[in-house]
Amino acid sequence: MASSSLSLAFLFSLLFTVSFSEAKTSSRPFLKVTKDAKTLQYVTQISQRTPLVQVKLSLDLGGEFIWVNCEKGYASSTFTNPICDSSPCQLLNTTSCITACFSPPSVDCANNTCGSFPTNPFGSISTSGPIVGDVFAIQSTDGKNVLPMIKVPSFYFVCGSNNIDIGLANGVTGVAGLGRTKMSLPAQLSSYFEYDTKFALCLSSSTKSSGAVFFGDGPYTLLPNVDASSSLSYTPLIINSIITGGGFVGDASPEYFIGVKSIKVNDKRVNFNESLLSFDAEGRGGTIISTNKPYTVLETTIYKALVSAFVKAMPKNVERVPNVAPFGACYSTKNIGSTRVGPAVPSIDLVLESKNVWRIFGANSMVAVKNDVLCLAFVEARTDFAPTIPVVIGGHQIEDNLLQFDLEKSRLGFSSTLLGRSTSCANFNFTSAV
Ligand SMILES: *[C@@H]1O[C@H](CO)[C@@H](O)[C@H](O)[C@H]1NC(C)=O
Ligand SMILES: *[C@@H]1O[C@H](CO)[C@@H](O)[C@H](O)[C@H]1NC(C)=O
Ligand SMILES: *[C@@H]1O[C@H](CO)[C@@H](O)[C@H](O)[C@H]1NC(C)=O
Ligand SMILES: *[C@@H]1O[C@H](CO)[C@@H](O)[C@H](O)[C@H]1NC(C)=O
Repeated sequence: MASSSLSLAFLFSLLFTVSFSEAKTSSRPFLKVTKDAKTLQYVTQISQRTPLVQVKLSLDLGGEFIWVNCEKGYASSTFTNPICDSSPCQLLNTTSCITACFSPPSVDCANNTCGSFPTNPFGSISTSGPIVGDVFAIQSTDGKNVLPMIKVPSFYFVCGSNNIDIGLANGVTGVAGLGRTKMSLPAQLSSYFEYDTKFALCLSSSTKSSGAVFFGDGPYTLLPNVDASSSLSYTPLIINSIITGGGFVGDASPEYFIGVKSIKVNDKRVNFNESLLSFDAEGRGGTIISTNKPYTVLETTIYKALVSAFVKAMPKNVERVPNVAPFGACYSTKNIGSTRVGPAVPSIDLVLESKNVWRIFGANSMVAVKNDVLCLAFVEARTDFAPTIPVVIGGHQIEDNLLQFDLEKSRLGFSSTLLGRSTSCANFNFTSAV
């Protein structure tokens, strides 16, 4: 008797565990992402507050957290201001304690609460603001279909203000940081829904059809039934623990660095000082991936070397035409063939630490500036001093590529162009029934 009821209980617990874990893994958060035609920002939408309000945000892959402009009529019956040193205040290493606020109590005015420094990467402006928790809702998927919205009861973000709400795409009132912190969108979602911190970016090259960010593991199924999480190549994600940009000493950079060792054009090594690609003692150097730059930005000597190598590799029957700013090598389309992976131009390879190669084909290396003119879609870092990060891989180079950021294994999975597999990041079935 005792043993049979025990095994029955065991069976029940087994059933319960199985169905519970299925529920946890079959539905994962995801975001629909649309490229804004005017600003070239990647715009998405979440819901927060009680009652729920839809909020448009621009993606910032290396951003520390979500910030929202709280001065645009923030109303909610469920927001909380965490007290200094409580666990939400420790999601970031560097928060400040706001001991007293002398305006009437509101979402962005409380005593003994913590704050941080929301930054608008598109206007390069920053301010300070409190950390706030509130109800958060996001679309979900099983990797193939759109499923109902799922809720996080207390998701932490930072209040921004009208001061930094400048230069954002139309209708956007904040920035969604996907960076390497415990407070970023992927980190808070994986901690609440209890899956490995892993997410995948699949940005559409079109402003008319949307791409997606998938949180958690694959499949990430694109029509016609291509799982973009299969056959990825991998390279380590590198932590730059030395100050970069707006960070603080001792805080690792929230940006995703990868180890590019050299660059090749048509399999020939581009000639520049490759030690620029490694970190120096001050933490300068390296390569990041960024959704804040529409085109890859290169330090001047690397840029000049790449343009010169590309021009040399271009077949002689392709006519070079006057440059169209900000680009440095433009061509008539007349003798450029077209292929499934874009215009038939010399390939550009990023040779990675893992000896893997990220090959960039025409669809990602060239941009159409007029009907009959294509330009090499890389730009020069125009600063009076050497940029901190010499290679910033921008939006045009990652569109229609699936990039999986795996923080557990600290590696980047990359697909190279999905156009080669006859699909694209615009091919997720957003029309599927909820
Ligand atoms: C914070 O505390 C001060 C001093 O006790 C008080 O005057 C002020 O109204 C409080 N502010 C809020 C937002 O509660
Ligand atoms: C936060 O601080 C801890 C302890 O000092 C350190 O180990 C960790 O790397 C820091 N995290 C970040 C993101 O800087
Ligand atoms: C390459 O760059 C490094 C670091 O900026 C510098 O120390 C070195 O002298 C350079 N080498 C050459 C050959 O210019
Ligand atoms: C998209 O999903 C819907 C609902 O699941 C389905 O009816 C439709 O056939 C799918 N579209 C394609 C092209 O597979």
